[in-house]
Amino acid sequence: MSMESKYIWMNGELVEFEKATLHFLTPALHYGQGIFEGIRCYATDRGPAVFRLREHLERLIHSALLFGFRSLPYSVEELTDAIRLTISANGFEECYIRPLIYLTEGGWNLNVDAGRAGVGIAVWEWTNYLGAEAMEKGVRANISSFTRHHPNVMLTKAKVTGNYANSTLAKTESVRLGFDEAIMLDPQGYVAECTGENIFVVRNEKIYTPPTMAILEGITRDSLITIARDLGIEVIEQPISRDQLYMADEVFVSGTAAECIGLREIDFRLIGEGVTGPITRMMQRSYHDAIHGRHPRSEEWLEYVNSPVELPEQARIPTWNAVAD
Ligand SMILES: Cc1ncc(COP(=O)(O)O)c(C=O)c1O
Repeated sequence: MSMESKYIWMNGELVEFEKATLHFLTPALHYGQGIFEGIRCYATDRGPAVFRLREHLERLIHSALLFGFRSLPYSVEELTDAIRLTISANGFEECYIRPLIYLTEGGWNLNVDAGRAGVGIAVWEWTNYLGAEAMEKGVRANISSFTRHHPNVMLTKAKVTGNYANSTLAKTESVRLGFDEAIMLDPQGYVAECTGENIFVVRNEKIYTPPTMAILEGITRDSLITIARDLGIEVIEQPISRDQLYMADEVFVSGTAAECIGLREIDFRLIGEGVTGPITRMMQRSYHDAIHGRHPRSEEWLEYVNSPVELPEQARIPTWNAVAD
């Protein structure tokens, strides 16, 4: 995977890729005080389009406010323009988009109020997060020996960089054991989510997924629930136990990076027939139609990069418009 691009947007301007650097003593690097989003832009008949951009940017701003930032330099509208500018400047038809709000210039005493928020946006071409064959064949997962955060330990609704130390422990262990992905249980021992995906179980043609108490409220999760209900499939949010995973007809996971991927095996037990099942396939097909502008929901969910506003040559976006005080 190459993460290279021509420009990264940093604090109001496009900066050449090699020059988009931060100082070693940026507190966010030491204490996990960053807030990020993972967003995707897809090729459509009407040019590149960002999937559910508003929802992602609202979650970014909410995550930052939940974490404790009291003011942010940019609004959702300004970040929307900045993302469109960054995609256009780099000339990508399809890309992954990574905005990051990070604590800088103060905050070494672990007090958010002692520093200020910096903001960057990178884009790069990133396909096949769980491997090239994942979509076709499904992947193998294990139940992690690491527990997902209790919401009183870390904010599970916020994409805080520090949260991902927990995901990294689980993912590294899982891959070293020979699996592709880790499933994490919540502190009560029920199924929570994967290291970067939400999880769904199919049984008797109904779809089950854990409630949102201890998980990230995934935007792909929400999209798949909507798509399934549009198709007349019942979706039930209820606690799921690990043995309910083992006895499922199908299990699939969802996330912006992974999209919609079946789990063909969990803890050395085949799930269903041990292949990507028919409901998972249906969800994959509908989701792919939605992201590429070919689904009745596409209009509502896609933000076309090249319309309706003309992008300036090099937009310099005003700084420090407080969104909360
Ligand atoms: C822990 C975790 N759960 C779930 C998801 C899926 O969320 P989304 O569908 O909004 O990308 C992600 C990825 O962002 C994640 O990091």
